[in-house]
Amino acid sequence: MPARIFITGAAGYVGGQTTGLLMSTHPEYEVVALVRNEEQALKVKGRWPEINTVIGTLDDHAILRQESTKAAVVLQLASSDHISCIEPLISGLATSGGKMVHISGTGVLNDASTGFGNPAPKIFDDVKDIEEITSLDQSALHRNVDDAVITGGKQHNVPTAIICPPLIYGIGEGPVKKRSIQIPFLTEAILKRGRAFTVGDGKNVWDHIHVSDVAKACVFLVEEALKPQGSAQWGPTGYYFVESGEFAWREVSEAIAQLVKEEGKLEAADVDPLSVDEALKFHPWAPVLWGGNCRSRASRLRSMGWKPEGPTLWEALPAMVKAEIAALKP
Ligand SMILES: NC(=O)c1ccc[n+]([C@@H]2O[C@H](COP(=O)([O-])OP(=O)(O)OC[C@H]3O[C@@H](n4cnc5c(N)ncnc54)[C@H](OP(=O)(O)O)[C@@H]3O)[C@@H](O)[C@H]2O)c1
Repeated sequence: MPARIFITGAAGYVGGQTTGLLMSTHPEYEVVALVRNEEQALKVKGRWPEINTVIGTLDDHAILRQESTKAAVVLQLASSDHISCIEPLISGLATSGGKMVHISGTGVLNDASTGFGNPAPKIFDDVKDIEEITSLDQSALHRNVDDAVITGGKQHNVPTAIICPPLIYGIGEGPVKKRSIQIPFLTEAILKRGRAFTVGDGKNVWDHIHVSDVAKACVFLVEEALKPQGSAQWGPTGYYFVESGEFAWREVSEAIAQLVKEEGKLEAADVDPLSVDEALKFHPWAPVLWGGNCRSRASRLRSMGWKPEGPTLWEALPAMVKAEIAALKP
């Protein structure tokens, strides 16, 4: 019997990239994708005719439970914050004997204790600091859902893994959404403002990863999930950062400014340090998106042989900036 994989978020940026890799490297799997509506289903099936789509949302708990009851692996890539979908997915897997891979995000580590725009020294290593990571305060972003996954897995005796990417860059190759979050939003804000900016001095540090390397890590965990004796860890230690390096936000703002100027959309490539209140005028999440520090080290995946191979941030940035300029055209 082919292994059945139930994936949520296949019409999304990360989910689309991951589904593509899953379909091309494992044509032997039976893949079932949750999509919101008929339009998404047509696009997903148009790209991958052999995929099965189920129309529903993360609030359709009966559908989630029914699908996970039949799945060997649930790959939950639709949301890091939708807490109520976790129980039905995990309780269904308790029946199938399958495993769950859930996406979180290093926003959970967000550290602005030194002030927005300033660097903070703490780097979280997913092996050395695992207990600290899985007992961060419940008020941290995504943390309640991370906890629901780990606790639910323990309660139902279902092996769970959490993949926790930092800023993801690159144009996605899925059939629907191809746009990431932080760099596109910043480029859009810079274009609208007519000048580049940072939150505070922009010396705050984040990690980054190319979308193809996140997909590779997700598929790797699916493969591990299907092995009777794999090397991956599950449950409380099944927590996987996925990064390829770090940057200070000022470097990114400067690079975007230069690229936008070269495209003739900015007069000067100067970067203005803005107060949090000023930055909030350009995006309601400005301090969280661009103002804090999120520093992770993917020691667990690296120890199992995964390594980032995608284009660097600086190689991928020109196409991302051009896509934002094109999207703003009347
Ligand atoms: N992109 C990043 O840089 C990054 C980094 C770290 C973590 N993450 C996290 O990873 C998750 C996926 O990110 P992404 O960038 O791939 O987002 P995305 O492009 O918006 O993809 C999410 C997909 O899941 C679907 N979806 C979301 N909520 C749903 C619901 N309640 N019911 C049914 N379908 C739903 C969306 O459908 P619609 O389009 O119809 O809403 C979309 O197809 C997010 O929670 C994000 O916070 C992202």
